[in-house]
Amino acid sequence: MRKSVNNQDQWAKVLSELEEEYAKLQSYDKTIIEHLGDVRNIKVLDYGAGPAVLADLLQNLGAQVKVYDISKEMREIAVEKLGRAAVIDRVNSIPKNYFDIILCNLVVCIVAEEEVYQIIKNLRSKIASNGKIYIGFCNPKIYDIKESNLDYRFPIGEDYSCNHDYKKVKKEGNYEIIERHRSIEWYTKVMEDAGLEVSDVFFTPEYELKGFKIRDFIIFELTK
Ligand SMILES: C[S@@+](CC[C@H](N)C(=O)[O-])C[C@H]1O[C@@H](n2cnc3c(N)ncnc32)[C@H](O)[C@@H]1O
Repeated sequence: MRKSVNNQDQWAKVLSELEEEYAKLQSYDKTIIEHLGDVRNIKVLDYGAGPAVLADLLQNLGAQVKVYDISKEMREIAVEKLGRAAVIDRVNSIPKNYFDIILCNLVVCIVAEEEVYQIIKNLRSKIASNGKIYIGFCNPKIYDIKESNLDYRFPIGEDYSCNHDYKKVKKEGNYEIIERHRSIEWYTKVMEDAGLEVSDVFFTPEYELKGFKIRDFIIFELTK
């Protein structure tokens, strides 16, 4: 039977699938790594790091990486990959005003609205005054597309401006998730209300599938 992730505390069910998402790695993680450039000796926090795939790559590129994830199972895998000292167990233990770069990849599009507010507030408190936060998630502009290279998607016919949930089946791993659609404008307002400035917005590379032009992910660069 196909695995189903309906809630933020269920991601450990697909831990091994997340570790083997090569198409997502080529799209999302590659875009972020290229954008960051030279990360040697840069203090990086990956917030909601999952099984620490990107964190591991960045550590190998010379960054001083710390990770936090709400899931104990994800943190245990991260300890195996990065070492005990790199993994932070509690959000309150993450140092404040400290990191040069904070990444929060594919987390805000799977949690409830109240959690989005809280996560963005947390990220703001942890970034150094001249640091940059990157918050990336599934591109809201393709919310009504039925298939991408990464997913089969089940849009429910709601408008772009209306926050709503819909189902996706991941092609890699063949598991099912609930995606929280919110417009780019909604996210921008939440970020600005939290005291962050949007310094850049970019997307993963465009490709064409069944006549649709698709960019899978959007990434916000933010400063405080
Ligand atoms: C889709 S996975 C993304 C993992 C990784 N960032 C990536 O890009 O592959 C979402 C992760 O967010 C974590 N998560 C969900 N809610 C969270 C929260 N409130 N705080 C921190 N992590 C959270 C989950 O445990 C899961 O590991």
